[in-house]
Amino acid sequence: MKKIFALALCAVMMLSVLAGCGGKNDAPADNTPAQNEPAATPDATPDAAPEAGGTIGVCIYQFTDAFMTTYRNALQEILEGKGYTVTVVDGANDQAKQNEQINTFITQGVDALIINPVMTSAADQIISTVKNANIPTVLINREPTAEQMAVYDKLVYVGCDAAQSGTFQGELILETPNGGDINGDGKISYIMVQGDPENIDAQLRTEYSVKALTDAGKEVEELNLTRGDWMRERGQEIVANDLAQFGAQVEVVFCNNDDMAIGALQSIQAAGRKVNEDIYLVGVDALDAALNEVSNGNMTGTVLNDAVGQATAAVEQMEALLGGKTFASGEQSVYVDYVKVTPDNVADFMG
Ligand code: BGC
Repeated sequence: MKKIFALALCAVMMLSVLAGCGGKNDAPADNTPAQNEPAATPDATPDAAPEAGGTIGVCIYQFTDAFMTTYRNALQEILEGKGYTVTVVDGANDQAKQNEQINTFITQGVDALIINPVMTSAADQIISTVKNANIPTVLINREPTAEQMAVYDKLVYVGCDAAQSGTFQGELILETPNGGDINGDGKISYIMVQGDPENIDAQLRTEYSVKALTDAGKEVEELNLTRGDWMRERGQEIVANDLAQFGAQVEVVFCNNDDMAIGALQSIQAAGRKVNEDIYLVGVDALDAALNEVSNGNMTGTVLNDAVGQATAAVEQMEALLGGKTFASGEQSVYVDYVKVTPDNVADFMG
């Protein structure tokens, strides 16, 4: 992951140097957007290279989120490497606060916005705000519906197809020597540790991880499903409770993300269980901590949620918008592929 990240950044920075871009700005990592800088003049020709040096506002739903930390750092590096003046703000998981931040950026006259909404359900409101202000906007990580996006043609979503990550989690279990049925009773008994259920990534990973098993003809038994809101401590608590309640019945622990899986692992180990021997554990994201655990055999696998790839695509789409591109309805989602990570290929993702 680190290696891929470093290579991607090098490539981006070399391109910036070749293009003669400069003006790197140290954006404050707090909630106070910096004073406005002179804006670049957007090129009216679709797909033409825009001038570097514009001001970009980036809204992140919550800085304490482990995955979004990798993502926002990548975004900031790429944008600054291209000579943009960037301010990244923390929505602190509070939609009202994020709405104010968006309005502040608009008042300051930023050239473009990149927004990771706090609530998917706030998409209509966010979209109408940026549309009224006529600001080119890239939404990331929390996907609205095609109908919601269709009202504004200077809007695009960059993310991943969440169903794919769920399918890959199910496949990771099917690929184990006993296909997830450790006790040989003919069914796969699992617990599901869900992210924030308002988020489509949480909904689809929950659904498609199990669907991969049933599509393969397996019988499944859900022992428990609990929301862990993407947080490590919640993963730890939930799995500690479930193991106390269901004990050896638990064969598989599905976590909608790696941070919760790392928490789950602590409880699995505290209960004296051994991953890949008497229990399986899978996550999503390929955080560095999870890659280490996959490599040590303490996680069955994870799924790369490519933060650098998505940050790169978000900036590409932002530049297309700044170059005058508009998006037809039904064509406003740009997806980056997930990748299955197992002990066999984990080294490819580690620094
Ligand atoms: C990631 C989670 C993260 C969430 C935030 C998901 O795509 O897998 O780790 O907490 O996005 O919205």
